[in-house]
Amino acid sequence: MFYDALKNEHGLKHDPFKALVSPRPVGWVSTLSKNGISNLAPYSFFTALAEKPAYVMFSASGSKDTRRNAEETGEFVCSVATYDLRKKMNLTAARLPYDESEFDYAGLTPAASHFVKPPRVAESPAALECRYWKTVELPSATPDAKPHAVIIGLVVGIHIEDAYISEGIVVTDLMRPIARLGYRDYAWIDADNIFTMVSPALQKKT
Ligand SMILES: Cc1cc2nc3c(=O)[nH]c(=O)nc-3n(C[C@H](O)[C@H](O)[C@H](O)COP(=O)(O)O)c2cc1C
Repeated sequence: MFYDALKNEHGLKHDPFKALVSPRPVGWVSTLSKNGISNLAPYSFFTALAEKPAYVMFSASGSKDTRRNAEETGEFVCSVATYDLRKKMNLTAARLPYDESEFDYAGLTPAASHFVKPPRVAESPAALECRYWKTVELPSATPDAKPHAVIIGLVVGIHIEDAYISEGIVVTDLMRPIARLGYRDYAWIDADNIFTMVSPALQKKT
């Protein structure tokens, strides 16, 4: 099949787009309001953009507290969402009033960050402390569509639980990070689904 993506005329029961761009890591983004109230929400339009220095982005559809806080305070933290934390992660997607914290709502512990004020999720095995860089507004397909904006941050500090480091390597499958697929589906990384391959660019010429 083929369809016009701008008209979104796929003729299927549900929009297939997100099922085709999967798995997407879940950035579990914490921020503080100007008044110091913590906010936490999952974003699967989330990815790393660069390394040395590292940049990450998440994309907010419509008006989101996370975007507002990141823009107003200049800081955010992305904790790793894991299989063990999946239910609490899901709870943090609730649309709470601006002055209520999803940390309290989901029963999660805020842990102090090193370089930025927003806390990371203490129960998560790793977190990226970010300094907000810029917002890129994406043009909408139609005037009535929800606006989307990409929020980009420079990673200034990285927390990794020591238990997940072995012989100098982060053991990703021990963390069991989760990823979003299409529809209501998720996946998690485990040892059985990891394979290793060397890029030709890194192979020695014979
Ligand atoms: C796994 C998952 C991924 C999500 N990804 C996004 C996303 O990429 N962009 C977005 O705008 N909302 C996303 N949402 C919905 C937000 O988490 C939800 O709207 C939340 O209430 C936003 O909170 P905030 O207003 O405190 O930022 C996602 C929800 C879940 C459960």
